Amino acid sequence: MSLAQRATILTPSLTLGIDSKAKAMKAEGIDVCSFAAGEPDFDTPDHIKQACISAINAGMTKYTPSAGIPELRQAISQKFKAENNLDYPAGQIIVSNGAKHSCLNAILACVGEGDEVIIPAPYWLSYPEMVRLAGGEPVIVQTTEENGWKMTADEFQDAMSPRTKMVILNSPGNPTGAVYTEAELRAIGEVALGEDILILSDEIYEKLTYDDVKHVSIASLSKELYNLTITINGFSKAYAMTGWRLGYLGAPEPIAKAIDAIQSHSTSGCTSFAQKGALAALTGDQSAVEDMRAEFDIRRQYMADRLSKIPKISVVMPQGAFYVLANISAFGLNSTNFCDRLLSKHHVAIVPGIAFGDDRTVRLSYATSLDIIKKGLDRIEEFCKSL
Ligand SMILES: Cc1ncc(COP(=O)(O)O)c(C=O)c1O
Repeated sequence: MSLAQRATILTPSLTLGIDSKAKAMKAEGIDVCSFAAGEPDFDTPDHIKQACISAINAGMTKYTPSAGIPELRQAISQKFKAENNLDYPAGQIIVSNGAKHSCLNAILACVGEGDEVIIPAPYWLSYPEMVRLAGGEPVIVQTTEENGWKMTADEFQDAMSPRTKMVILNSPGNPTGAVYTEAELRAIGEVALGEDILILSDEIYEKLTYDDVKHVSIASLSKELYNLTITINGFSKAYAMTGWRLGYLGAPEPIAKAIDAIQSHSTSGCTSFAQKGALAALTGDQSAVEDMRAEFDIRRQYMADRLSKIPKISVVMPQGAFYVLANISAFGLNSTNFCDRLLSKHHVAIVPGIAFGDDRTVRLSYATSLDIIKKGLDRIEEFCKSL
């Protein structure tokens, strides 16, 4: 038996692997502090759940159009206009099974055999794998702490080749928490325009920015950039809806049509009643989003402050998402050794930066209670002292 080549080149998600290991240790009765998960610890707001329950009770249990129910696509179109200054008519919006699925669909629709895709590192670990799955080649641009873990326009230009097809931007970013400013996006956009490079802009952490930092959608900066950009967003992070598996994208019409065709022959439309919950999320009371953001902010400041006070650890203050990326290279251990020892000896689960293309760093998620964060940081301090 032999597998298709595309299946043999993929590596299983390391973040999900560590989370499972931490859960298995917990099941054995070990008191593990886990900072590995990439999902909010809050519950989905009640009005969203109720909308979904009402939809089931009303018998909304059949197939939906593959691109999503019309009222949800319409609400997303209005959201893009009101919040992002983006004109995506409902026909150019595709609802998928999570922003992850939207990313994969976009890459499958646009990237072909041998095409290069530029990805700034540290990156969200699924991007290079998705590019490989599509037959493309990831071209990694290493960003620096000095530059806040952001790719500059010059670095982008230098990574370009005649085979470059796409660049992936993720702001606010996982694992860095970096948020690109409008000026930085304009400079990167200029380079993309000059070479006619598509931009995949993953904006899933849009609602989670701090210190008055504003999220900017690159496609809103000019008509020309709009024509090159696929804007991806979803419900998982802003509305604590990770398990609902709902995300969406807005794209220029030919790309949206191609993505709809791919989806119609793979997963079809998303779960019918879940889409009614998503509609309630967009059109209902938004106060829970701000409440969660404010709580994340308290934890962010606490975690970044404690980590940066540990000798030999350096941290760039994250401005978005719910992660702190810490540089641990001064300990002389690679990121996997650091994380393995921390988990087995001190029972704290964090993710090695090698998973994100940077072996000098480790990622800690603060999507967990302040009590656990305090306890976990006491243990990390003790561990670092022992090194
Ligand atoms: C940068 C980034 N994009 C996309 C996703 C996937 O989100 P969803 O749950 O909507 O598929 C994640 C989840 O961790 C992420 O960190």
